Amino acid sequence: MMNFLMCSCVVLLDLVAVHSRVLMQGRIVGGHTAAPNSIKYIVSLQSSRGQHFCGGSLVHRYWVLTAAHCNIRAEHMMIVAGDYIVNNFEGYEQYAKPHRLVPHPLYNRSTNNADIMLIKLRAPMVLNQYVSLVPLPRQGTGVVEGRVCRVSGWGYSRLGEGQARFILRTVRVPIISTARCNSSESFNGNITANMICAGYRTGGRDACKGDSGGPLVCGGRVYGVVSWGNGCGDAKFPGVYTVVSKFRQWINKTIYGSYIRCPKYERNV
Ligand code: ARG
Repeated sequence: MMNFLMCSCVVLLDLVAVHSRVLMQGRIVGGHTAAPNSIKYIVSLQSSRGQHFCGGSLVHRYWVLTAAHCNIRAEHMMIVAGDYIVNNFEGYEQYAKPHRLVPHPLYNRSTNNADIMLIKLRAPMVLNQYVSLVPLPRQGTGVVEGRVCRVSGWGYSRLGEGQARFILRTVRVPIISTARCNSSESFNGNITANMICAGYRTGGRDACKGDSGGPLVCGGRVYGVVSWGNGCGDAKFPGVYTVVSKFRQWINKTIYGSYIRCPKYERNV
């Protein structure tokens, strides 16, 4: 079912791109371009040919948080921080190759459950005016329905746009209750406890294809990772995000090598 939804997402995009006003805005749906280098924690995951394919968040100088479905083989991947227009060198970009990809061991391609991955970089990013870390939520903390969060991304799409330059976009979306998101009018039971939905009842504002892996930030913390959906900006189908706070212990263990709570890092990272 989930695979079907994901595939139909891609197919639908292809089919309706020409006709849809929403999709003509492309990428992050219904938002606006971010001010240059205003979203300093976002990174672009690029193929060896320099094509953006997913977003991510810098949570540590050596570590990027993204979606497990953004897992392509490490040797084909480049991580770019400090970017604004992808494929356009502006002088603030920092490039790092992955040293290690750590997809969550419970990630399930067909249900999309645990769609989260950490990438250890070969060299650390330098924190400066253009590149910063985003704080993580604490383990188990939730976000309440109606809380307005921000999702950003380059949402690379090849739908007739060829090698256009892509400017970073951002849009604010409210959290939707899982009860509503799981209702038969919407995702019909496919939203697991590790997922959260965000969007407007009227649709129109959403992440879209290519925003995957990117950050949903609530109150300055990266609560969600762009995971999946059904179409983009559809009133019936909000965007689905991986709940980062459910994986905080796994993140700590992966980054710091231990499950031991470390208040210093919880505060600072
Ligand atoms: N899976 C998509 C990607 O690869 C992200 C889909 C998000 N869709 C949405 N309607 N919020 O980029």
